[in-house]
Amino acid sequence: MSDDRWLQFWRDHGRKSRSADEQTQVLRTFNKAPIDADRWEFTLEELERAFPVDRDDDVLDLCCGNGLFTAYFASRSRTVTSVDVSPDLLQVLKQRNLPNVTTLCSDMRAAEFQDGSFSRILLYAALQYIDEQESIELVKRMARWLRPGGLLFIGDVPDRTRMWAFYNTEERRSLYFENLAAGREVVGTWFEPVWLSNLSAYCGFTKIEMLSQHPDLIYAHFRFDMLLTR
Ligand SMILES: C[S@@+](CC[C@H](N)C(=O)[O-])C[C@H]1O[C@@H](n2cnc3c(N)ncnc32)[C@H](O)[C@@H]1O
Repeated sequence: MSDDRWLQFWRDHGRKSRSADEQTQVLRTFNKAPIDADRWEFTLEELERAFPVDRDDDVLDLCCGNGLFTAYFASRSRTVTSVDVSPDLLQVLKQRNLPNVTTLCSDMRAAEFQDGSFSRILLYAALQYIDEQESIELVKRMARWLRPGGLLFIGDVPDRTRMWAFYNTEERRSLYFENLAAGREVVGTWFEPVWLSNLSAYCGFTKIEMLSQHPDLIYAHFRFDMLLTR
């Protein structure tokens, strides 16, 4: 869907989940239960393996939610700029009082930065909230915001070729068709890996790595990651 229903969804969810645990605030849940501390630690270790960050890095955490990844980057990098559309989730991040973090409340489609502002960009569990057409513009802009040699990690992308691994029960499939009939998709936009790979080349990335998630990650059966080098 290319309208603003997801914006409203996340603004509402951010407001309603202020007293929930941190993982529920960003809906990192499986069968409605938030992931536990060990699984989160493992998620960070997996990210670190593919996406190294160090003291010289200026990081953009786009669609940062309540700043779970921002907090991790803040202790390892020079600066972190964290953008999200939910003021309530950003407020949770601000309460972390991280001195090298700047926050910006904005739609990712409207955010603008000078060329070469960052050496690392993370877009995790969020590409699905825009459509294919909008993602062309966003990937182009993220390429501009990165310095030469900089890295973009797009994580947790719903894989169109494995959609039925997610809609894997009769109940889920009914939900899928009922929503689609009403013009909605339950998850958001599903992307074909080869489509995103070709888009990344078109946008000027010099190295494109499509990454399978470790099977112990909760969404590995229907999501994938990408690491792009500017
Ligand atoms: C599933 S959460 C992931 C948050 C964070 N990246 C993480 O993995 O912990 C998705 C986030 O994307 C944000 N979001 C959705 N659409 C957005 C948009 N168009 N612009 C900016 N943020 C958006 C939501 O507010 C929410 O915080």
